[in-house]
This record gives sequence, structure tokens and C-alpha cells, in this order.
Amino acid sequence: MAPRINGVGIRPEETRICVVMVGLPARGKSYIAQKAQRYLKWLSIPAATFNVGNYRRNDAPHPSADFFDTNNAEGERKRRAAAEAAVVDMMKWFKSGGVVGILDATNSTKERRKWVLDRINQEGIDVIFVESKCDEEELIMANIRDVKTTSPDYQGQDPEQAALDFRNRIRNYEKVYKTINEDGDEDHLTYLKIMNVGRQVIINRIQDYLQSRIVYYLMNLHIRPRSVWLSRHGESMLNLEGRIGGDADLSHRGEEYALKLPGLVRESVGSDRPLTVWTSTLKRTIATARHLPKHYNQLQWKALDELDAGVCDGMTYQEIADMYPEDFQARDEDKYNYRYRGGESYRDVVIRLEPIIMELERSEDILIISHQAVIRCIYAYFMQKTQEESPWVPVPLHTLMKLTTRAYGTEVEIFKAEVKAVSTWRGKGSTAKHEDPIPEGGV
Ligand code: ATP
Ligand code: F6P
Repeated sequence: MAPRINGVGIRPEETRICVVMVGLPARGKSYIAQKAQRYLKWLSIPAATFNVGNYRRNDAPHPSADFFDTNNAEGERKRRAAAEAAVVDMMKWFKSGGVVGILDATNSTKERRKWVLDRINQEGIDVIFVESKCDEEELIMANIRDVKTTSPDYQGQDPEQAALDFRNRIRNYEKVYKTINEDGDEDHLTYLKIMNVGRQVIINRIQDYLQSRIVYYLMNLHIRPRSVWLSRHGESMLNLEGRIGGDADLSHRGEEYALKLPGLVRESVGSDRPLTVWTSTLKRTIATARHLPKHYNQLQWKALDELDAGVCDGMTYQEIADMYPEDFQARDEDKYNYRYRGGESYRDVVIRLEPIIMELERSEDILIISHQAVIRCIYAYFMQKTQEESPWVPVPLHTLMKLTTRAYGTEVEIFKAEVKAVSTWRGKGSTAKHEDPIPEGGV
């Protein structure tokens, strides 16, 4: 059988990587692990995180700081058992087709890293260590306040007490912590060391394509507060006719949305802070952006153009069903993977959007004005929508979405322009021109 290649140049049969997180508590390891997992899954690379803390909680649900003292034999035994259990589950998961497994634990001593490396290499799986090293006291305190005091470890406890205990937990770790290659005898390891949230990074012995993709993605992450705004273009002349694709002008109501957009954006930003605007290269998104303040930087991206419907471009769904009935049905059966004749699938769109996601991660406060399918794909990245769900997400016209990244997820706010527009959402099996989406599950 020919090897499967999933569109991003990965042969799942040949590539298996274990990303082993390293670092003291409250250094953003789980945050980094979750982001990497979300990015890889969005690119159809099977990825899963195994958080050793969750395994430890089975045996020690509310430990105090002295549980993490290396002189505490009982604590040491339970922590080791939790790490073993996580690795065993990860190995089972690799056997069932996993490609990137992430071991989320402190792995903060040389001995523990050696054990993990030997254990995982034994199974023929490559290991890449990803360390987050941070000595900015204020940031660490903020992390403790924001995410540690609400951890299940401290359920029902006073947040002040919890923060104090967590500081003591860190102290116990500090007694034995060694940053990777501190003594010069870990140079054989493959690793990425991120210091003070990317102010400095060390890359050592990164070997292959997928490893370098992961490293490049992680190097681009930042944690400055920011949001991403998403809007479709205003209603177009082809939307009125229920025709897909094309490069039409805005309808009268679409023009009205373009005029209202600056006010809607200001309301959602909550100040006059300028945003950077990215549009597609199609007339309808450029026209929608044209009344935004002049001091907003604007950039056109070909990658933000609507999904290419190939030979069906400019047709109504009814015309497609009449002319290509088998294709119409095939698309409903697997909308994510169906590629229009001479055009694209949602999978293709995700792959061409990858540089956009990378750039979004590097940036702050971007407003994207694009198209239904493209916005669904970007939304799927932030909201972790599956391939079954994402091509069906309702994204109504004349609606601005504000996505704000938080420690462990993304918050969505919706701003409606109160300008009527046709619905371009289509349910499975339907050829209706303008059908209203089912109310739940969408924006
Ligand atoms: P623990 O060992 O207790 O599980 P952890 O290292 O996994 O801790 P997280 O739970 O991921 O820490 O901490 C989340 C917080 O870390 C978030 O508030 C996030 O903004 C912040 N953060 C993310 N990346 C970094 C980084 N590179 N350095 C420091 N803090 C970061
Ligand atoms: O109808 C508007 C539109 O943006 C079309 O140009 C595009 O083909 C379609 O939406 C994508 O939506 P779906 O994937 O649901 O057909």
C-alpha cells in the first residue's frame, strides 16, 4: 500500500514524535502543549496531550507543597507512578495511529528526562524536549493567580492560601531543577528551549520536517493580550441570487454593512485603538473594508480568497445538484474532504491558511474580512471544531466576531450590524437558495 500523505507532507506511518514538556510549575507548559495539540489537529495530524498531573490526581487529588519535596518518599513514588501511567497510555495511543504525543509534566531533572527518553526511544518513537524557562517573577505570580488557584488541586480552598502553597511547591521543584543541558551533558538531546516567552530560544538537534514545523510554530507564540476579529464581506450581488463564488460587487445592503462596520469595530474594540485589517483579493472584501479609518493598516492576502468551487463557480446549489448530482451528494457526505472539480476542498483551504494562522499567532489585534468557508476554517482553529463540524458552522453575513485568547481557550463575542442580509447557510441535502441555519451550534 502506498504511504498516506495528508496534504501537509506528513506520512503518518513513518512519523511518530513525543514532545516532552520541561520546566518548573507555572511556566506555561500546559498552555504550550494545548496550543501545539490544537494546531496539529487542525492540520489533520493526530495529536494528543497526556497530562501527568491528571494521572497524579487519581492518587493524590489535593496535595500540599510538601508532597512535591523530593525527600517525601511517598510523594516521589506516587509521582513516578503517575508518569509511568501517562507514558503507558501514550504508547497505547501511538499504537492506535497517534502521530504527535505530548507528555505534559515538569520533567525537571536530568534523571527523569533520561528515563523518559530511554522509555520512549525503546518504542521507536523520537523525542523532542520543549522547555519553558521563565524568571520573570511578576509573570509567574500572574500565572499562579490566573490559573493555579483555580486548579482542581486547590478545589474549595482560599485562593490566597492556594497561591502561597503553590509558591512553596515551586520552591520544592527548584531544589532539584536543572534546565536542559545545564551541566553540558545533555547535548545529545533534541530540544527547544523557550526563555522568557520567546525573548530568547535555543534549538538543538532538530531533525526532521514535522519537528521543525512544531518548533517554528512554538517560537511564534506570545502571550500579550490580544483579539482576532472576523467578518465576512457585506452581502454581494451573487449572494442575493444564491450563487456561489465569483467576484461580485456588494449589494445595496452590503454597502450599508460596509458603512456600519467602522462603528461596529470601534464598539467591539472599546477604544480608538487601531487594528490591522486583512482582506482577501476579491472585490467584495476590499469594498467592505474601505470605510475603515485610514490609519488602520490594510493588507490583501490571496490565501484569504473564498474556497474555489472550480467548475461550479457562479452556480446555485440547485444548478450543481442538477448538473453534478453525484458530486452534490458526495460533498454532503464528506464536506471537509470533497474537492470541487477543478477547485478546492475545505482541507485544501486549511492548508493554504496555515501561513495566516502562523502570522496571526505572531501578531496582535487583527481584523480579517474574508468569506464563509475561509472564516469557518479560521474559526475551527480557534474553537477546536472537528472536520465533521467545521464546514457546517453558521457564519451569518453582517456580523462581526471577536475572538479573545485566554489561558486555556478562546472567548467569542458577537456584534450584529442590524442590516438585513440573505442567509447563505445550507443544510445537508438542501438546495434552497436562502435557508436559515438551525439556531444552535453557530455564531
Ligand atoms: P504546572 O507545572 O503547574 O502544570 P504549567 O507550566 O503547565 O504549570 P500553565 O498551567 O500552562 O503552566 O500556565 C498557564 C499560564 O502560563 C497562562 O496564564 C499563560 O499565559 C502563561 N504562559 C504561557 N506561555 C508561557 C511561557 N512561555 N512562559 C511563561 N508563562 C507562560
Ligand atoms: O455562498 C457564499 C459562499 O461564500 C460561496 O462563495 C462559497 O462557495 C460558499 O459560501 C461556501 O459555503 P459552503 O461550503 O457551505 O458551500
